[in-house]
Amino acid sequence: NPTFSVGSKNFTAVAINTASKAGEWIQSKLGDFNSLQTKYSAQDLVTEVDKGAEKMIRNLIQTHFPQHSILGEEGVQPGPAASQLALQEMSGAEYLWIVDPLDGTTNFVHGFPFFSVSIALAHKGEVIVGVVYNPLFNELFVAEKGKGAYVKGKRMHVSQEARLLDSLIATGLPADRTGALPVNLLGLNALSSKVRNIRVAGSAALHLAYVAAGRLSGFWEIGLNSWDIAAGALLVTESGGTITDTEGNPYHLGVRNVMASNGLIHQEFHTELAHANALKITV
Ligand code: IPD
Ligand code: CA
Ligand code: CA
Ligand code: CA
Repeated sequence: NPTFSVGSKNFTAVAINTASKAGEWIQSKLGDFNSLQTKYSAQDLVTEVDKGAEKMIRNLIQTHFPQHSILGEEGVQPGPAASQLALQEMSGAEYLWIVDPLDGTTNFVHGFPFFSVSIALAHKGEVIVGVVYNPLFNELFVAEKGKGAYVKGKRMHVSQEARLLDSLIATGLPADRTGALPVNLLGLNALSSKVRNIRVAGSAALHLAYVAAGRLSGFWEIGLNSWDIAAGALLVTESGGTITDTEGNPYHLGVRNVMASNGLIHQEFHTELAHANALKITV
């Protein structure tokens, strides 16, 4: 794979190595963690494994790139407002690593085998490296800006479905479900007759990686944070797909309501999600 480097430093190699090490450690802790706590709401879980993985990732990145900034989920106060504020505060950094040490904590806690480590590097606000690692499948998804995306070393391409009716799509329940959400928030009922089927597997980063790999034709979710999306967004675009916010505007690090697809279905997907009233939280 091609590489990005400053002097002798290879960003992508560090991202890959870091995600692999953290992922392997997380895997070793599956079914063997001690502390389960809640954060912003009763449904927002964290374990010592989330925190330990983030610590490990921060240490590895800092060893290689002491000048770089790091935004990691477990280093930020819980809740959407604090997350957006932390991103804003760091958005001036020349190099910003955006880290979700364990995406799919609920799955990890229950032993449902679908979780990942997500690491992105942004240069002046633009993601240039994205790595998502699923340790249980030993699948490492990696993208470099302008240089394509790969899974286990093989080039990835988005799927070919041109109609929503032929498409397998995915979504997720927002982490913050404390407020009054519209009953049709997810639009699953309205959408179900328009698509082949819908999956809600519990790791936004892996859902995006699966869009990149052509295993899903589309994914949307409302109320995510930068660390859920940043790496996966580059995987999608470098695999030939499209990622926007749910109004169809270009993706940037501040986007929380996201739609990704193979590009071919993007317009139809957007239209049907809008019909289903599934594009925003209308509290
Ligand atoms: C969560 C997962 C989940 C999504 C939630 C996220 P976490 O991240 O990505 O799939 O539906 O919105 O918060 O907390 O497990 O890192
Ligand atoms: Ca979390
Ligand atoms: Ca996450
Ligand atoms: Ca997480």
